[in-house]
Amino acid sequence: MNGQIKNICCIGAGYVGGPTMSVLAAHCPDIQVNVVDINHERIKNWNDPNLQNLPIYEPGLGSIVGRCRGKNLHFSTDLQRHISLADMIFISVNTPTKTKGIGAGQASDLKWVESSARQVASYAQGHTIVVEKSTLPVRTAEVIKEILNTSQPALTMQSEVPTFDILSNPEFLSEGSAVKDLEDPDRVLIGGENNNAIKALSEIYRNWVDEDKILHTNIWSSELAKLTANAFLAQRISSINSISALCEATGADVREVARAIGSDSRIGSRFLDSGPGFGGSCFKKDILNLVYLSRFFGLPEVADFWEGVVHLNTWHQKRVSHLIVKKLFGTLAGKKIAVLGFAFKANTNDTRESAAIQICKDLQNEGAILFIHDPRVSAKQIAIDLGSEPIDKVSGAFKQLTLYKDGDWSSVDQISDAAKDADAILLLTEWEEYSQLNWVKIAKQMRKPAWVFDSRSIINHKKVIEAGLNFWRVGDGSNWEV
Ligand code: NAD
Ligand code: UGA
Repeated sequence: MNGQIKNICCIGAGYVGGPTMSVLAAHCPDIQVNVVDINHERIKNWNDPNLQNLPIYEPGLGSIVGRCRGKNLHFSTDLQRHISLADMIFISVNTPTKTKGIGAGQASDLKWVESSARQVASYAQGHTIVVEKSTLPVRTAEVIKEILNTSQPALTMQSEVPTFDILSNPEFLSEGSAVKDLEDPDRVLIGGENNNAIKALSEIYRNWVDEDKILHTNIWSSELAKLTANAFLAQRISSINSISALCEATGADVREVARAIGSDSRIGSRFLDSGPGFGGSCFKKDILNLVYLSRFFGLPEVADFWEGVVHLNTWHQKRVSHLIVKKLFGTLAGKKIAVLGFAFKANTNDTRESAAIQICKDLQNEGAILFIHDPRVSAKQIAIDLGSEPIDKVSGAFKQLTLYKDGDWSSVDQISDAAKDADAILLLTEWEEYSQLNWVKIAKQMRKPAWVFDSRSIINHKKVIEAGLNFWRVGDGSNWEV
């Protein structure tokens, strides 16, 4: 059923490469799948016998890796060997926003894609189908094609001239539900020119995806559709977050407004949850990329339109931190704030572009002392994101609040440690466990007057108010001050 494809290599063992190839391997036992990466630590963790230590956390992923690893799923740093053996190569490397040079701050940095293409050009043998899995600016396939067709193979590989087909097959999974999204995708998008190559990739997906969900387009439409999908999703979040501010100003409730508009089948109910502002590695970078491309192609009005989505998100994150300062009498100096959640959404350990990073930094700047809890994010990762070490690691002063200076932070394993003597609790990630807290118990530990700020609307507000705490939640125009 899998046609000619017997050996797949995926370059990049990250949040996309790891789960995507694991699900593919599970459904295609006759194909050998090798996931390669230059990051030795990451590969070591993918090979860790203890499945709890896989480098990324995704519900359901551990059991798939446990079933396939060592059979037809392998993780390795030997790029040369696995590229040379492969009939099909997925490029699934990072494509962050450029930080310097032309297009800095907006355009995608394609250096990892280019180096992957050069490695493929050096080591591939025979005919190889190269699949763009990374999210890429429109017309990147042209660059890859040129590198593949003009580079010299490595000296040891010169017995025959390699040939290539290029396909675009962007990934639409969401973190936290990656396995579910891969098992049952809304669609699989394949862009390309060569029918045999398209057929070979479609046949792989046909092992578990219905034929009518596999869409074929030209390669440029496929590349642009991925950027557009993320831009549309992010635009919905900025739209509802903008309305949340208006709700707070007018006495309306954003949840009611979302329900009312979401039941219009033309609008739909998903992606209308107001929160602390969207995070994640892709929304911002992909929209900025779209903005850059629009300006590049002489379409400033289109660029301005999409840039507004990112501006609104940045403003909204600031709005949350400003509001906290205001509610706590205009100053946070020396005040303890318990922060619940640091990941950019629930069910992932990923903190890239998490709203928590900017909001925590803003609160630290105002002098707050933060006690941060997240069930999956390590103190090490929080330290990298905040750019400072936690106080408990530095001086052993944990729990003795008087030893903390303004702007210090600690990471805590127990929510009760975070709540003790806190002036406020700020919920930033919608982890299930945060919706079931005992507010009577927590209220007794806090310094009064105390506040609960729920940026995800998952807390039972009645219980918080009954416990004698002040309450704010995003987009709720009711006044819950005691
Ligand atoms: P990631 O940073 O988690 O993983 C990328 C991996 O590629 C890293 O481990 C890195 O070491 C490796 N790498 C880079 N250059 C390499 C090279 N030359 N050879 C071998 N390995 C190399 O990134 P990610 O989140 O998996 O995203 C990958 C791509 O997929 C991006 O373009 C992103 O926009 C897109 N995407 C991401 C998601 C998501 O949920 N994270 C979803 C859809 C699409
Ligand atoms: C997003 C897209 O949903 C995926 O289709 C896409 O493949 C992926 O980006 C990508 O290209 O990287 P992801 O960022 O993993 O997936 O997660 P989302 O569920 O989209 O959430 C993104 C952010 O928006 C999170 O911070 C989340 O909390 C926030 N969000 C989401 C809201 O604030 N409200 C919502 O209603 C939905």
